[in-house]
Amino acid sequence: MTEQEYLKKYLHPNDNYEEALKRLNNGEPVQYIVGDVEFYHHLIKVNKNVLIPRPETEELVEKTINLINKKFPNEINILDIGTGSGCIPIALKSNIKNSHIDAIDISKEALDTAIENAKLNNQDINFYISDIFSNVNNKYNVIISNPPYIREDEEIMPIVKNNEPHVALYAKDNGLYFYKEILKEAHNYLQKEYIIAFEIGEEQGQYITNIAKQYFPKSKIILEKDLRNFDRFIFITNE
Ligand SMILES: C[S@@+](CC[C@H](N)C(=O)[O-])C[C@H]1O[C@@H](n2cnc3c(N)ncnc32)[C@H](O)[C@@H]1O
Repeated sequence: MTEQEYLKKYLHPNDNYEEALKRLNNGEPVQYIVGDVEFYHHLIKVNKNVLIPRPETEELVEKTINLINKKFPNEINILDIGTGSGCIPIALKSNIKNSHIDAIDISKEALDTAIENAKLNNQDINFYISDIFSNVNNKYNVIISNPPYIREDEEIMPIVKNNEPHVALYAKDNGLYFYKEILKEAHNYLQKEYIIAFEIGEEQGQYITNIAKQYFPKSKIILEKDLRNFDRFIFITNE
């Protein structure tokens, strides 16, 4: 579907099509113009304060749900780091009934949108501000994150660079900063039975696997590909 077709199909009836087309021609992502996207069967509001949820992140959710269903028959605690629009915890909560979910972000504006999205989707999630673990005080069975992972010197598509929040895109240390920080501290925030689930950049698989081996030498570390056959996910579980 072209972006014009997408706009025609999804623009809300009260919105002005000519205005919307102007914004599209000025280089704005069609999802911000429409104002919401479908993510794992949920409608998620998006605006310039949050990353537009990507199909790969739906795959992360799907794979994580499958792992959780296999590993945890009982109640579990989940933490989502860098929740953005709240798409990940909303999709998890509606599929894993016996879960308590906390979701954090450093951006107050993103959290406002996430809270609105949880309400719209009738999901009970506890959102709060935190710089990675700085305000986290609980222990979790599942830590999930799609953190910023683009290298600061990486050339990306202008439509992304010019519109989506840079705090959601870029990470220092060759894009690895968040994986290192999360893995370094994660033991303090995990229960005995755990899953860590990451979305990663397609060139980061080996680097993050090595960091994971350093902090989780006895755990199972699985690197998985997305539907386009790029390395995209890392799962770390206690054996
Ligand atoms: C790639 S976006 C992911 C958003 C959403 N989880 C998704 O998958 O669509 C990364 C998110 O991490 C947040 N973030 C950036 N730095 C952070 C930090 N130091 N602590 C917590 N969250 C942070 C950003 O505000 C952004 O919402």
